[in-house]
Amino acid sequence: MTSSPVRDASGTVPLHEQIYTRIRASIESGQLKPGQRVGSLRAFAGELGVARGTVQVAYDRLLGEGYLMAKGPAGTFVSEKITSPRPHRLDAAPNPVNTPPEPDSTEVSIEMDGGVPAPFQLGLPALDEFPRKLWTRLLTQHVRKAGSLAKPAPAGFGPLREALAAYLQRSRGIDARPHQVFVVPAYTASLALILDALALTGTSAWVEQPGYPPTAQSLRRARLQVLNVPVDDQGLDVAYGRQHFPDARLAVVTPSHQSPTGVALTLQRRIELLDWAGDQGAWVIEDDYDGEYRYRGHPLPALKSLDTCDRVIYCGTLSKVLYPGLRLSYLVVPQNQVATVDLACRRTVHGGCPELLQAVAAEFIAEGHFARHIKHMRTLYAQRRAMLAQALAPYEQDGLTVCLQDGGMHLLVDVGDELDDLVMARRAREAGFAVHSLTAWRHGAPGRRGLLMGFTNLRSQDEADRLVAELMRALKA
Ligand SMILES: Cc1ncc(COP(=O)(O)O)c(C=O)c1O
Repeated sequence: MTSSPVRDASGTVPLHEQIYTRIRASIESGQLKPGQRVGSLRAFAGELGVARGTVQVAYDRLLGEGYLMAKGPAGTFVSEKITSPRPHRLDAAPNPVNTPPEPDSTEVSIEMDGGVPAPFQLGLPALDEFPRKLWTRLLTQHVRKAGSLAKPAPAGFGPLREALAAYLQRSRGIDARPHQVFVVPAYTASLALILDALALTGTSAWVEQPGYPPTAQSLRRARLQVLNVPVDDQGLDVAYGRQHFPDARLAVVTPSHQSPTGVALTLQRRIELLDWAGDQGAWVIEDDYDGEYRYRGHPLPALKSLDTCDRVIYCGTLSKVLYPGLRLSYLVVPQNQVATVDLACRRTVHGGCPELLQAVAAEFIAEGHFARHIKHMRTLYAQRRAMLAQALAPYEQDGLTVCLQDGGMHLLVDVGDELDDLVMARRAREAGFAVHSLTAWRHGAPGRRGLLMGFTNLRSQDEADRLVAELMRALKA
């Protein structure tokens, strides 16, 4: 790696970001080898003519993402586990595996009664902090424009596709042109569109176990065979998938915060997954539903940002940053699939998303409100997450252990082997608490037991304490 001064011509990219990108690129290209020592903070900062703190920020991020490892006084080294993504063979034939489908055991929904979030509701942004005034002003402005009332373009409203492409480049490290971005009304619509466009019906797919129930449901509806691949503390166990289901044509993953465990897929696993996809000619769908919300360090770059072989289809949503009723989600497809997806888009039944709302969302993003809102929510959710963790702490003696992950919009509370999380979640829901069990998200299969509890709409410590106390009374009754 050369250490010539890092300066971007526009001056808009912060120095620490430029240093981070430079080192990461050197590692990924193999210029910096696994186990190789990188310069000390002081030496590196001196060579670049920047403050030590600036280099420190870049190093911290690389350490957090697993590119570097610190070895105390010996210095900082490129992680031993890193191997660069290699070129792939793309012609492997599909060979679905026969495993019986499992029943859906999704818990009954009690969310959002009369516009009020149910206590501990999952995945719902803080509705009390949504900038309604600003949103209303933009809506009023756009409703006056004739174009906003027209029939929408099937692939999405041009300015929104542009705003999303720019946002994804800046915030998620994804290099995509606007025409690679398709706007759809929901994540499940993204899945349906991709399965149709890439002719995946009748093949088989890896899904995370435990995992977001609508993923497996959507795949089954499209007549794919669902192959459960376990998730451990490093995310999807790619080696297990490779060993048991090597010929699957698709993997659907949540790399930023695995849904529901909250674990981030490690860099090594990301590389293994991309290698498998490349070797098999398989596809990977990256469901990046809440990648923005990380409370320690920076948000991790998307898996798609490592996808040098164009095997990853990225799915994002505005549901988690803005509001789910907006019904605006999007996907990013590889350049060589744009025409195919465009065609599939024209034959889908949803007929496009309302242009008025797309126009408002486009302006909201392009004018910087989106980035500001995310920043504000990140701080707010870190506080609300801490409130719920604190409210649950006294119940550790009752067998509840909070597993604090670095990101996400809910907490996973381990309940150990003695308690039955399915029964607990059922009792909680009967008492009006929108709590889910980990077992239900594993489609009833045995394994780790726990409760999933959203914290985003808790407005004070008092409220958190009161709700947890009421929940515990309901559980013990
Ligand atoms: C894991 C996961 N993926 C995707 C979504 C998608 O959402 P939407 O259909 O609202 O875009 C959600 C929403 O809760 C989710 O939890």
